[in-house]
Amino acid sequence: MATGGGHLRFLVSIFTIVSIWHLGHSWSKEGHILTCRIAQDLLGPEATHAVTNLLPSNVDGDLSALCTWPDQIRYWYKFRWTSPLHFIDTPDKDCTFDYTRDCPDDKCVAGAIQNFTSQLMHYREGTSDRRYNLTESLLFLSHFMGDIHQPMHIGYTSDKGGNTINVRWFRHKSNLHHVWDREIILTALKDYYEKDLDAFQADLENNVTSGIWADDIKSWSDCDDLFSCPTKWATESINLACRWAYKGVTEGETLSDEYFDSRLPIVTKRIAQGGVRLAMILNTVFGEHDHEIPSPT
Ligand SMILES: *[C@@H]1O[C@H](CO)[C@@H](O)[C@H](O)[C@H]1NC(C)=O
Ligand SMILES: *[C@@H]1O[C@H](CO)[C@@H](O)[C@H](O)[C@H]1NC(C)=O
Ligand SMILES: *[C@@H]1O[C@H](CO)[C@@H](O)[C@H](O)[C@H]1NC(C)=O
Repeated sequence: MATGGGHLRFLVSIFTIVSIWHLGHSWSKEGHILTCRIAQDLLGPEATHAVTNLLPSNVDGDLSALCTWPDQIRYWYKFRWTSPLHFIDTPDKDCTFDYTRDCPDDKCVAGAIQNFTSQLMHYREGTSDRRYNLTESLLFLSHFMGDIHQPMHIGYTSDKGGNTINVRWFRHKSNLHHVWDREIILTALKDYYEKDLDAFQADLENNVTSGIWADDIKSWSDCDDLFSCPTKWATESINLACRWAYKGVTEGETLSDEYFDSRLPIVTKRIAQGGVRLAMILNTVFGEHDHEIPSPT
Protein backbone atom coordinates (compact mmCIF):
# COMPACT_ATOMS: atom_id res chain seq x y z
CA MET A 1 0.00 0.00 0.00
CA ALA A 2 2.79 2.35 0.87
CA THR A 3 4.23 1.68 -2.56
CA GLY A 4 0.87 2.40 -4.16
CA GLY A 5 0.63 5.69 -2.30
CA GLY A 6 4.13 6.61 -3.38
CA HIS A 7 3.22 5.82 -6.92
CA LEU A 8 0.15 7.97 -6.78
CA ARG A 9 2.09 10.84 -5.27
CA PHE A 10 4.65 10.50 -8.01
CA LEU A 11 1.93 10.65 -10.66
CA VAL A 12 0.26 13.57 -8.97
CA SER A 13 3.50 15.48 -8.91
CA ILE A 14 4.11 14.75 -12.58
CA PHE A 15 0.67 16.11 -13.35
CA THR A 16 1.35 19.14 -11.22
CA ILE A 17 4.60 19.80 -13.00
CA VAL A 18 2.97 19.36 -16.39
CA SER A 19 0.11 21.67 -15.55
CA ILE A 20 2.31 24.33 -13.99
CA TRP A 21 4.49 24.16 -17.06
CA HIS A 22 1.44 24.75 -19.23
CA LEU A 23 0.20 27.62 -17.15
CA GLY A 24 3.57 29.28 -17.24
CA HIS A 25 3.34 30.05 -20.91
CA SER A 26 0.49 32.34 -21.50
CA TRP A 27 -1.95 34.79 -19.99
CA SER A 28 -3.84 32.66 -17.50
CA LYS A 29 -6.94 30.97 -18.77
CA GLU A 30 -8.85 33.88 -17.25
CA GLY A 31 -6.79 36.48 -19.11
CA HIS A 32 -7.48 34.82 -22.45
CA ILE A 33 -11.16 34.34 -21.71
CA LEU A 34 -11.54 38.01 -20.80
CA THR A 35 -9.73 39.19 -23.95
CA CYS A 36 -11.90 36.99 -26.16
CA ARG A 37 -15.16 37.94 -24.48
CA ILE A 38 -14.38 41.65 -24.79
CA ALA A 39 -13.58 41.12 -28.47
CA GLN A 40 -16.65 39.07 -29.25
CA ASP A 41 -18.94 41.66 -27.68
CA LEU A 42 -17.50 44.31 -30.02
CA LEU A 43 -18.06 42.42 -33.26
CA GLY A 44 -20.28 43.75 -36.02
CA PRO A 45 -22.90 41.51 -37.66
CA GLU A 46 -20.68 40.05 -40.42
CA ALA A 47 -17.86 39.16 -38.05
CA THR A 48 -20.32 37.74 -35.52
CA HIS A 49 -21.73 35.54 -38.23
CA ALA A 50 -18.32 34.39 -39.47
CA VAL A 51 -17.05 33.60 -35.98
CA THR A 52 -20.17 31.60 -35.13
CA ASN A 53 -19.84 29.76 -38.40
CA LEU A 54 -16.21 28.83 -37.79
CA LEU A 55 -16.61 27.68 -34.18
CA PRO A 56 -17.46 24.03 -33.55
CA SER A 57 -21.13 23.70 -32.64
CA ASN A 58 -20.44 22.35 -29.14
CA VAL A 59 -19.33 25.77 -27.85
CA ASP A 60 -22.60 27.47 -28.79
CA GLY A 61 -20.94 30.39 -30.53
CA ASP A 62 -18.75 31.26 -27.54
CA LEU A 63 -15.25 32.12 -28.80
CA SER A 64 -13.87 32.44 -25.27
CA ALA A 65 -14.54 28.75 -24.63
CA LEU A 66 -11.70 27.90 -27.06
CA CYS A 67 -9.31 30.79 -26.57
CA THR A 68 -6.96 28.66 -24.49
CA TRP A 69 -6.97 25.79 -26.99
CA PRO A 70 -3.57 26.79 -28.48
CA ASP A 71 -2.00 26.30 -25.01
CA GLN A 72 -3.57 22.87 -24.68
CA ILE A 73 -2.24 21.53 -27.99
CA ARG A 74 1.13 23.18 -28.23
CA TYR A 75 3.06 20.10 -27.11
CA TRP A 76 1.15 17.67 -29.28
CA TYR A 77 3.31 16.34 -32.06
CA LYS A 78 1.09 17.76 -34.78
CA PHE A 79 1.22 21.24 -33.29
CA ARG A 80 4.73 21.38 -31.91
CA TRP A 81 5.60 23.93 -34.59
CA THR A 82 3.26 26.40 -32.85
CA SER A 83 5.19 26.38 -29.59
CA PRO A 84 7.57 29.27 -30.46
CA LEU A 85 4.60 31.34 -31.64
CA HIS A 86 3.46 32.32 -28.14
CA PHE A 87 6.21 34.80 -27.34
CA ILE A 88 9.22 36.83 -28.48
CA ASP A 89 12.70 36.73 -27.00
CA THR A 90 14.40 40.11 -27.22
CA PRO A 91 17.99 40.98 -26.27
CA ASP A 92 18.50 41.38 -22.52
CA LYS A 93 17.93 44.90 -21.16
CA ASP A 94 17.60 46.29 -24.66
CA CYS A 95 13.89 47.07 -24.35
CA THR A 96 13.22 47.12 -28.08
CA PHE A 97 11.60 44.75 -30.55
CA ASP A 98 13.06 44.43 -34.01
CA TYR A 99 11.05 42.14 -36.28
CA THR A 100 13.95 41.03 -38.45
CA ARG A 101 16.23 40.43 -35.48
CA ASP A 102 13.74 38.87 -33.04
CA CYS A 103 11.26 37.06 -35.27
CA PRO A 104 13.36 34.74 -37.44
CA ASP A 105 11.31 33.07 -40.22
CA ASP A 106 8.22 34.80 -38.80
CA LYS A 107 8.23 32.26 -35.96
CA CYS A 108 7.11 34.49 -33.11
CA VAL A 109 3.85 35.89 -31.83
CA ALA A 110 3.98 38.96 -34.14
CA GLY A 111 4.59 36.74 -37.19
CA ALA A 112 1.85 34.34 -36.11
CA ILE A 113 -0.71 37.15 -35.91
CA GLN A 114 0.19 38.16 -39.47
CA ASN A 115 -0.01 34.58 -40.67
CA PHE A 116 -3.39 33.74 -39.17
CA THR A 117 -4.86 37.13 -40.08
CA SER A 118 -3.96 36.62 -43.72
CA GLN A 119 -5.41 33.10 -43.68
CA LEU A 120 -8.70 34.48 -42.35
CA MET A 121 -8.79 37.02 -45.18
CA HIS A 122 -9.66 34.08 -47.45
CA TYR A 123 -12.83 33.37 -45.53
CA ARG A 124 -14.92 35.73 -47.61
CA GLU A 125 -13.82 34.10 -50.83
CA GLY A 126 -15.77 31.13 -49.56
CA THR A 127 -13.95 28.61 -51.70
CA SER A 128 -14.57 25.00 -50.81
CA ASP A 129 -10.98 23.82 -51.30
CA ARG A 130 -9.46 25.95 -48.61
CA ARG A 131 -5.79 25.53 -47.95
CA TYR A 132 -6.12 26.24 -44.28
CA ASN A 133 -8.37 25.16 -41.48
CA LEU A 134 -9.89 28.53 -40.70
CA THR A 135 -11.30 27.33 -37.38
CA GLU A 136 -7.73 26.81 -36.24
CA SER A 137 -6.69 30.16 -37.75
CA LEU A 138 -9.39 31.92 -35.71
CA LEU A 139 -8.43 30.19 -32.47
CA PHE A 140 -4.73 30.85 -32.95
CA LEU A 141 -5.28 34.49 -33.84
CA SER A 142 -7.58 35.02 -30.85
CA HIS A 143 -5.08 33.42 -28.49
CA PHE A 144 -2.02 35.20 -29.83
CA MET A 145 -3.74 38.59 -29.65
CA GLY A 146 -3.88 37.91 -25.92
CA ASP A 147 -0.27 36.78 -25.68
CA ILE A 148 1.20 39.72 -27.59
CA HIS A 149 -0.41 42.06 -25.05
CA GLN A 150 1.02 40.23 -22.03
CA PRO A 151 4.14 42.35 -21.41
CA MET A 152 6.31 39.44 -20.26
CA HIS A 153 5.60 37.48 -23.44
CA ILE A 154 7.96 39.97 -25.07
CA GLY A 155 10.79 39.61 -22.58
CA TYR A 156 14.50 39.06 -22.21
CA THR A 157 16.11 36.03 -23.78
CA SER A 158 18.33 34.83 -20.94
CA ASP A 159 15.56 34.67 -18.33
CA LYS A 160 12.93 33.29 -20.74
CA GLY A 161 10.60 36.23 -20.29
CA GLY A 162 10.96 36.12 -16.50
CA ASN A 163 10.34 32.36 -16.19
CA THR A 164 13.70 31.85 -14.50
CA ILE A 165 13.32 34.77 -12.07
CA ASN A 166 11.95 33.15 -8.92
CA VAL A 167 9.91 35.35 -6.64
CA ARG A 168 7.28 34.96 -3.97
CA TRP A 169 3.81 36.21 -4.70
CA PHE A 170 2.56 37.15 -1.25
CA ARG A 171 3.14 33.81 0.54
CA HIS A 172 3.65 31.32 -2.25
CA LYS A 173 6.41 30.57 -4.70
CA SER A 174 6.10 31.87 -8.20
CA ASN A 175 8.21 33.46 -10.89
CA LEU A 176 8.08 36.81 -12.60
CA HIS A 177 6.52 35.42 -15.76
CA HIS A 178 3.75 33.69 -13.79
CA VAL A 179 3.10 36.87 -11.84
CA TRP A 180 2.18 38.58 -15.09
CA ASP A 181 0.42 35.60 -16.66
CA ARG A 182 -1.79 34.83 -13.74
CA GLU A 183 -0.98 35.93 -10.21
CA ILE A 184 -2.06 39.54 -10.68
CA ILE A 185 -5.26 38.49 -12.45
CA LEU A 186 -6.15 35.81 -9.90
CA THR A 187 -5.45 38.11 -6.95
CA ALA A 188 -7.67 40.79 -8.51
CA LEU A 189 -10.44 38.24 -9.10
CA LYS A 190 -10.28 37.17 -5.48
CA ASP A 191 -9.88 40.60 -3.89
CA TYR A 192 -12.26 42.65 -6.00
CA TYR A 193 -14.72 40.36 -7.77
CA GLU A 194 -15.42 37.52 -5.32
CA LYS A 195 -13.82 35.18 -7.88
CA ASP A 196 -16.60 35.94 -10.32
CA LEU A 197 -15.11 36.21 -13.79
CA ASP A 198 -18.35 37.67 -15.20
CA ALA A 199 -18.09 40.55 -12.75
CA PHE A 200 -14.47 41.18 -13.77
CA GLN A 201 -15.55 41.12 -17.43
CA ALA A 202 -18.43 43.53 -16.78
CA ASP A 203 -16.10 45.98 -15.04
CA LEU A 204 -13.60 45.82 -17.93
CA GLU A 205 -16.29 46.22 -20.57
CA ASN A 206 -17.78 49.16 -18.71
CA ASN A 207 -14.43 50.87 -18.74
CA VAL A 208 -14.11 50.17 -22.48
CA THR A 209 -17.55 51.44 -23.44
CA SER A 210 -18.18 54.32 -21.07
CA GLY A 211 -15.52 54.44 -18.37
CA ILE A 212 -11.83 55.25 -18.17
CA TRP A 213 -10.90 53.91 -21.62
CA ALA A 214 -13.90 55.06 -23.66
CA ASP A 215 -11.91 57.87 -25.25
CA ASP A 216 -8.93 55.65 -25.98
CA ILE A 217 -10.43 52.78 -27.88
CA LYS A 218 -10.33 54.59 -31.19
CA SER A 219 -6.60 55.13 -30.91
CA TRP A 220 -6.08 51.57 -29.61
CA SER A 221 -7.67 50.16 -32.72
CA ASP A 222 -5.79 52.49 -35.03
CA CYS A 223 -4.14 50.27 -37.55
CA ASP A 224 -3.46 51.27 -41.14
CA ASP A 225 -1.72 48.11 -41.96
CA LEU A 226 -2.58 44.82 -40.32
CA PHE A 227 0.95 43.65 -40.96
CA SER A 228 2.85 46.37 -39.15
CA CYS A 229 0.45 46.62 -36.20
CA PRO A 230 1.72 43.50 -34.41
CA THR A 231 5.17 45.13 -34.35
CA LYS A 232 3.68 48.17 -32.63
CA TRP A 233 1.87 46.02 -30.05
CA ALA A 234 4.96 43.91 -29.32
CA THR A 235 6.97 47.10 -28.87
CA GLU A 236 4.43 48.38 -26.34
CA SER A 237 4.76 45.09 -24.45
CA ILE A 238 8.55 45.08 -24.19
CA ASN A 239 8.42 48.72 -23.07
CA LEU A 240 5.95 47.82 -20.33
CA ALA A 241 8.00 44.75 -19.42
CA CYS A 242 11.06 46.96 -18.86
CA ARG A 243 9.27 49.82 -17.13
CA TRP A 244 6.89 47.84 -14.93
CA ALA A 245 7.53 44.12 -14.84
CA TYR A 246 11.31 43.75 -14.53
CA LYS A 247 11.89 47.12 -12.87
CA GLY A 248 13.35 46.78 -9.41
CA VAL A 249 12.63 43.04 -9.13
CA THR A 250 15.43 40.82 -7.89
CA GLU A 251 15.70 37.05 -7.73
CA GLY A 252 14.08 35.61 -4.61
CA GLU A 253 12.19 38.78 -3.73
CA THR A 254 8.69 38.82 -2.26
CA LEU A 255 6.19 40.79 -4.31
CA SER A 256 3.00 41.84 -2.59
CA ASP A 257 0.60 44.77 -2.15
CA GLU A 258 2.75 47.51 -3.58
CA TYR A 259 3.63 45.59 -6.72
CA PHE A 260 0.05 44.32 -7.10
CA ASP A 261 -1.58 47.74 -6.70
CA SER A 262 0.74 49.50 -9.11
CA ARG A 263 0.76 46.80 -11.80
CA LEU A 264 -2.90 45.75 -11.85
CA PRO A 265 -3.93 48.79 -13.95
CA ILE A 266 -1.33 47.79 -16.57
CA VAL A 267 -2.62 44.21 -16.71
CA THR A 268 -6.28 45.21 -17.02
CA LYS A 269 -5.48 47.75 -19.72
CA ARG A 270 -3.51 45.18 -21.73
CA ILE A 271 -6.38 42.67 -21.49
CA ALA A 272 -8.79 45.34 -22.73
CA GLN A 273 -6.46 46.45 -25.53
CA GLY A 274 -6.05 42.86 -26.68
CA GLY A 275 -9.83 42.49 -26.83
CA VAL A 276 -10.48 45.78 -28.64
CA ARG A 277 -7.77 45.04 -31.19
CA LEU A 278 -8.87 41.46 -31.77
CA ALA A 279 -12.34 42.84 -32.52
CA MET A 280 -10.81 45.36 -34.91
CA ILE A 281 -9.00 42.61 -36.84
CA LEU A 282 -12.03 40.33 -37.00
CA ASN A 283 -14.31 43.19 -38.06
CA THR A 284 -11.81 44.13 -40.75
CA VAL A 285 -11.22 40.68 -42.19
CA PHE A 286 -14.85 39.55 -42.03
CA GLY A 287 -16.70 42.85 -42.50
CA GLU A 288 -18.25 44.00 -45.75
CA HIS A 289 -17.08 47.57 -45.51
CA ASP A 290 -16.93 48.10 -41.81
CA HIS A 291 -13.30 48.88 -41.12
CA GLU A 292 -13.86 50.27 -37.71
CA ILE A 293 -15.04 48.68 -34.56
CA PRO A 294 -18.74 49.40 -34.22
CA SER A 295 -19.93 51.67 -31.48
CA PRO A 296 -20.99 49.71 -28.47
CA THR A 297 -24.72 49.30 -28.08
C1 LIG B 1 1.33 29.77 -41.02
O1 LIG B 1 0.36 28.79 -40.67
C2 LIG B 1 0.44 27.56 -41.37
C3 LIG B 1 -0.65 26.64 -40.88
O2 LIG B 1 -1.88 27.23 -40.89
C4 LIG B 1 1.79 26.92 -41.14
O3 LIG B 1 1.89 25.76 -41.91
C5 LIG B 1 2.90 27.90 -41.48
O4 LIG B 1 4.13 27.33 -41.13
C6 LIG B 1 2.70 29.17 -40.72
N1 LIG B 1 3.73 30.13 -41.07
C7 LIG B 1 4.44 30.74 -40.14
C8 LIG B 1 5.46 31.69 -40.66
O5 LIG B 1 4.27 30.56 -38.95
C1 LIG C 1 -10.17 22.05 -38.14
O1 LIG C 1 -9.44 22.00 -36.93
C2 LIG C 1 -10.16 21.56 -35.79
C3 LIG C 1 -9.24 21.70 -34.58
O2 LIG C 1 -7.99 21.14 -34.82
C4 LIG C 1 -10.63 20.14 -36.02
O3 LIG C 1 -11.38 19.70 -34.90
C5 LIG C 1 -11.49 20.10 -37.27
O4 LIG C 1 -11.86 18.77 -37.54
C6 LIG C 1 -10.72 20.67 -38.46
N1 LIG C 1 -11.62 20.77 -39.61
C7 LIG C 1 -11.32 20.24 -40.79
C8 LIG C 1 -12.32 20.46 -41.86
O5 LIG C 1 -10.30 19.60 -40.98
C1 LIG D 1 -12.64 50.60 -14.13
O1 LIG D 1 -12.55 51.96 -13.84
C2 LIG D 1 -12.62 52.30 -12.45
C3 LIG D 1 -12.52 53.80 -12.34
O2 LIG D 1 -13.61 54.41 -12.95
C4 LIG D 1 -11.51 51.65 -11.69
O3 LIG D 1 -11.64 51.89 -10.31
C5 LIG D 1 -11.55 50.15 -11.93
O4 LIG D 1 -10.44 49.54 -11.32
C6 LIG D 1 -11.52 49.85 -13.42
N1 LIG D 1 -11.65 48.42 -13.58
C7 LIG D 1 -10.93 47.74 -14.45
C8 LIG D 1 -11.14 46.27 -14.48
O5 LIG D 1 -10.15 48.25 -15.20
